[in-house]
Amino acid sequence: MLSESKNKAFIEFIKNSSKEEIIWMSGFLSGIISSYENSKKLIKFKEKITLVYGTETGNAKNLAFSIVKKAKNKNIQIKLISLDQYRLIDLKKEIYFFIIISTHGEGEPPSSAKSFFDFIHQEQDLRLDNMKYSVLALGDRSYPFFCKAGEDVDRRLHELRASRLIPLHKCDVDFESKAEEWFTTMVNLFDKSKFQEEIIKKNVKKKKIYGTILTNILLNDKKRGSNKEIHHIEILIKNPDEVNYEPGDSVGIIAENSSKEVQNIMNFFQKKNDNISNKMKNIFDFFKKKANIFHLSTMMLKKYFTLVKKDIPYDREWNLLDLLKNFPMENRNQLEDLIQIMDPIKPRLYSISSSPIVHDSEIHITVSRHQFQIDGNIKYGYCSDFISKLKEGDILSFFIHKNYLFKLPESDKDIILIGPGTGIAPFRSFLYEREATGASGKNWLFFGDQHFAFDFLYQTEIQNWKQNGVLHRVSLAFSRDQEEKIYVQNKIWENRKEFFTWIKNGAYVYICGKKNPMSIDVENTIFRVIEEIGHTSPEFFIRKMKEGGRYLKDVY
Ligand SMILES: Cc1cc2nc3c(=O)[nH]c(=O)nc-3n(C[C@H](O)[C@H](O)[C@H](O)COP(=O)(O)O)c2cc1C
Repeated sequence: MLSESKNKAFIEFIKNSSKEEIIWMSGFLSGIISSYENSKKLIKFKEKITLVYGTETGNAKNLAFSIVKKAKNKNIQIKLISLDQYRLIDLKKEIYFFIIISTHGEGEPPSSAKSFFDFIHQEQDLRLDNMKYSVLALGDRSYPFFCKAGEDVDRRLHELRASRLIPLHKCDVDFESKAEEWFTTMVNLFDKSKFQEEIIKKNVKKKKIYGTILTNILLNDKKRGSNKEIHHIEILIKNPDEVNYEPGDSVGIIAENSSKEVQNIMNFFQKKNDNISNKMKNIFDFFKKKANIFHLSTMMLKKYFTLVKKDIPYDREWNLLDLLKNFPMENRNQLEDLIQIMDPIKPRLYSISSSPIVHDSEIHITVSRHQFQIDGNIKYGYCSDFISKLKEGDILSFFIHKNYLFKLPESDKDIILIGPGTGIAPFRSFLYEREATGASGKNWLFFGDQHFAFDFLYQTEIQNWKQNGVLHRVSLAFSRDQEEKIYVQNKIWENRKEFFTWIKNGAYVYICGKKNPMSIDVENTIFRVIEEIGHTSPEFFIRKMKEGGRYLKDVY
């Protein structure tokens, strides 16, 4: 109610207003009322907000970290947890629950999100009545199950009675604008003052870069008996001004299929004397550069079987050539149908081993030609085989994959680099960079492989860095040079007192290379060192290191 004096003034004011003025005033007042209503909906900052992420190749993780940082600047505290660290019993307690999750495999969640995913789908009695949630799904539209894991989580949480705060946002490979939209909506719920800042770094965009192969050197001495085939590849970038990378970043490479294999496929659709039309040339290019013709997915096989109307066994590996031979298509016109059902070639990531300030206009990578056996026959990894065979002058296209979480610290900080085998790649980049910038922090490298004489990757450079003082310590482990196997973790243990002194004094620890067993054994050893030398809880110590960004892994 208005006070008597206000009421009088108001009536007087209305009396003196025209019909149009009164209509305008009524609109104005309803605007004010609705803004009051909205402001009541704003959620206080004090509420507990959790952001979880499920990632395979780091995009979801990078996004989650950048979101938490930006939110913090706006006084919004968000608890950030990787889904593989998340305690599932806490789910019932969540009030505001945000999820960033990618899709991998054939529409599956990333391995780090598997337990969470299975848990919410398998628990029949779970009820999440108090939870308000939103899902940001990362994916790639060229896959048949676009953003499926995100869709599944979004649907399932709804089934479990949680309320959807913001609708599901599905992002393609250029996820930045969608992610930004999601984040801005989320922040606006918590922050009345319009928060319009750019949050996602623009350069996450996967721009295609072209380069020419300058060198392809085999780093192992095969003749003297090395079991390994690791290549050092130097690429000259075509337009260096367009390329922006930092030590710790990777390149994504999409391998091409061999012309011979593609021609064999084309032979099913071309007669010997056919004139090769432009259309056929384009189709040849499609199979060479875009279509995945090996290890065909179950999804693709199912579609093929529908096309040829045959029952085909799923319990073995198929490549396209075998499929066409064993279950031919009825006629040549079905080529168009085949093109429609092919999956795209998936990119593979390789750590960059050069430094942008030392190796001007170049990018170096360190690629192990992956070898394995099927039915007694030697086979090679699809992409690593392609890269290993590149020759000087060949053109390669690739993209930069930023890794914001695997970066050098400030120049005065000490670093411990643990990178056996190809795990050395980013550390070569780090050390070149630290040498060139005259960084005052100390550097300790742990490297290992099978044999000193023929598997010591970048031996000359490492020895030079030791001599000129860039490397303060080098610990080498060559597993097969003596009876008993010696690995990098044994070297950590051997130097445990000094190792603990370094980390106690603030050194950053980086682990790169094979996830299993290397990184697991190394981490177990670091735990033991902290427990036995530091006499403290390794879980707590490592958690503190992680919170300070001092414990970083890039493992595969
Ligand atoms: C091996 C592989 C399989 C993938 N499968 C799918 C898929 O089935 N559906 C989809 O939408 N995206 C798929 N993607 C694309 C990823 O979801 C996309 O690159 C995402 O940004 C990765 O995020 P992450 O780094 O957080 O794992 C796949 C990517 C790779 C490398």
